Amino acid sequence: MDAIEAIRSRRSIRVFKPEPVPRKVLQEVLDASRWAPSWANSQPWEFAVVGGKVLDQLKDRLEERVKAKSPESPEIPKPGFTGQYLARIERTRDILDSFRYPPGVEITPERRAEYVAKASRFLGAPNGIIVYIERSLGPYAIFDAGMMAQTICLTAHAMGLGTCLMARVTYFPDILREVLKIPESKLIVIGIAIGYPDPKANYNNYVRSREPLDTMVNWHGI
Ligand SMILES: Cc1cc2nc3c(=O)[nH]c(=O)nc-3n(C[C@H](O)[C@H](O)[C@H](O)COP(=O)(O)O)c2cc1C
Repeated sequence: MDAIEAIRSRRSIRVFKPEPVPRKVLQEVLDASRWAPSWANSQPWEFAVVGGKVLDQLKDRLEERVKAKSPESPEIPKPGFTGQYLARIERTRDILDSFRYPPGVEITPERRAEYVAKASRFLGAPNGIIVYIERSLGPYAIFDAGMMAQTICLTAHAMGLGTCLMARVTYFPDILREVLKIPESKLIVIGIAIGYPDPKANYNNYVRSREPLDTMVNWHGI
């Protein structure tokens, strides 16, 4: 798969086969991803790669917190989307809702809460990666972690794996810190659900959209 094809065909996977990804394969994904760029090659990232009983424990604890309606405390504040950005989010949510709640299934707060609880279990993925950075480095290190996260997703995709970037699994950082022994000196940036995609799931195959290029490019002197 060439780079352009990988970029265009990577998509968020939200239904996984149950088989865990062998450690050797995860290692290969991360080994290639080390070549992501960063400010002056500072490489401010670290990963917790999780599976088996440890991931089960993490999933149980996150779900428990969601079900108890505990206040969320993400270390990177959730954006306050308005206007066109909110409209895009609502459009995506409506598409995803059409799979979560097929015709005849009423969308109730209870059903939404059920979905959020399921999502907090890394969407059922057999493996997860938590990306964190040295906290003292500031916003550019978060930018670097974003470059790394996309590199992981693209590499995994090129190797036949599926990923979903997940802010959702970072909303209770104290649990991640305790289970994965992440010190306070690190800032938890993003989680990634990773596994083999279920190719039959509609939820993995809906038609995505992007805004036309003209709406985002300003040409100067060209
Ligand atoms: C920072 C970030 C956080 C995200 N968090 C979640 C999440 O918690 N749950 C989820 O289902 N998808 C999450 N996503 C995936 C986006 O919904 C997805 O990238 C977007 O809808 C575009 O779809 P695509 O990845 O299939 O192209 C996240 C993406 C990013 C970049």
